[in-house]
Amino acid sequence: MKATIYIVDDEEIHLRFGKKALEKGGYNIETFIRSQDFLNAVDRSVPDLVLVDMIIPEISGAELIKELRKRSSILPIVVVTADPRIESAIQAIKNGANEYLRKPINPGELNLMVEKLLDYSQMREELQSIQTDNQKKYSLESLVGECEQIQSLKAFIRRVIEYPNATILLTGESGTGKGHVGRIIHYSSQKSNKRFVDINCAAIPEALLESELFGFEKGAFTDARAPKKGLFEIADGGTVLMDEVNSMSASLQAKLLSFIETRSFRRLGSVDELKVDLRLISTTNSNLNEEIARKNFREDLYYRINVVSANIPPLRERGSDVIILTTHFINEFNNQFRKHVEGLTKSAEEKLLEYEWPGNVRELHNVIEHAMIFTDRDTLDIDELVLGMKPRTTTGDNTGTENFIARSLSEVEAQHISDVLNYVNGDTTKAAEILGISRKNLWEKRKKLNLE
Ligand SMILES: Nc1ncnc2c1ncn2[C@@H]1O[C@H](COP(=O)(O)OP(=O)(O)OP(=O)(O)O)[C@@H](O)[C@H]1O
Ligand SMILES: [Mg+2]
Repeated sequence: MKATIYIVDDEEIHLRFGKKALEKGGYNIETFIRSQDFLNAVDRSVPDLVLVDMIIPEISGAELIKELRKRSSILPIVVVTADPRIESAIQAIKNGANEYLRKPINPGELNLMVEKLLDYSQMREELQSIQTDNQKKYSLESLVGECEQIQSLKAFIRRVIEYPNATILLTGESGTGKGHVGRIIHYSSQKSNKRFVDINCAAIPEALLESELFGFEKGAFTDARAPKKGLFEIADGGTVLMDEVNSMSASLQAKLLSFIETRSFRRLGSVDELKVDLRLISTTNSNLNEEIARKNFREDLYYRINVVSANIPPLRERGSDVIILTTHFINEFNNQFRKHVEGLTKSAEEKLLEYEWPGNVRELHNVIEHAMIFTDRDTLDIDELVLGMKPRTTTGDNTGTENFIARSLSEVEAQHISDVLNYVNGDTTKAAEILGISRKNLWEKRKKLNLE
């Protein structure tokens, strides 16, 4: 879709020049010589970007920017000024403009700036819609289960969301729902419009983890050609979830401790202290007390990350929640795959209730997904529930032909995309990266394959 740009300037020649300069960008451009006509047009339909002359006779640049900001908080505003003094540009930015340009305008510079601002505001819009989706997806109701432990977990969540900066520790076996609970805490709290970022401390090499968390300045190390924000900076105002915090090295543990104590840090290679306001949620599936006894984990850090904590019970201790979760997942995949499975046979239920679930809810989710892909019946039976599936390895033996399943490419594709999305907890940016395709391409594929 063509972006719409409004230009307002009291001199005809500047309007013509601006229009001509932007024409090759293929924008839809409207020009206004009177500020009131311009504001009326904005009232009728907010454009994607505005180019505003600072000195229009009827109204001051500052007032005009304020009027615009009243109408939209996110509209990109570029101010054009003939005033060579830096103060006037600073004032324009303070009043709410995004960028400024000096006359005479360089068409190349103008186009670059416009392109960048439009990209950025599109990103913001996408982010906004992802966030609204996530607020629905990670509501308190999305935590399925009725057993006592889940009910008290819900009470815990309801309580802690009222304390947006309290540091939280979530413990529990792999696949019990720690990440899910972390997201619910974020998306149900007043931080839900800010970023939620998660990082798996065990999956990232130590040196990289430090720069991921704290960011770096240009030249901080050989490859640091440009400065980079760390997750603590990106998540300012929001939530950082640190998975498997127990796997951090001693030196990073010390840095994390100091960050939690001061809520401030320095980018690698920088002397400036940055202060941020965020919630830290840590998760672990190992026993931190044992790690402390073995001197693998700092005791002082433990007390800092463990201001409030909850243990998420393994699935095998949740009784008939297994069946409630199964029904929930069947519905989920009915929608996704356009199927009409109604439930389970009695013996299938028994099989699920007896099983130990070493991979917990994630394993159950996968088992049901697998069954839902292959079933042609309206009730899942015992033979369709393949328990204890080992993840297939890509290395080594080629003797697996007896397990060969005749599947179409699109089935395999759908399964793989869904696995990857699961793996990254629905983070489409990460999923696209792993799959080696663009986010747009991923979106199209999901649409085509009916993946949620
Ligand atoms: N109570 C629940 N209701 C609905 N879905 C759940 C529930 N618990 C977990 N899930 C789903 O199960 C999957 C695994 O959960 P999650 O990733 O949160 O586990 P985890 O404890 O973070 O695992 P790991 O230790 O491997 O990081 C996710 O798809 C999650 O949405
Ligand atoms: Mg997790």
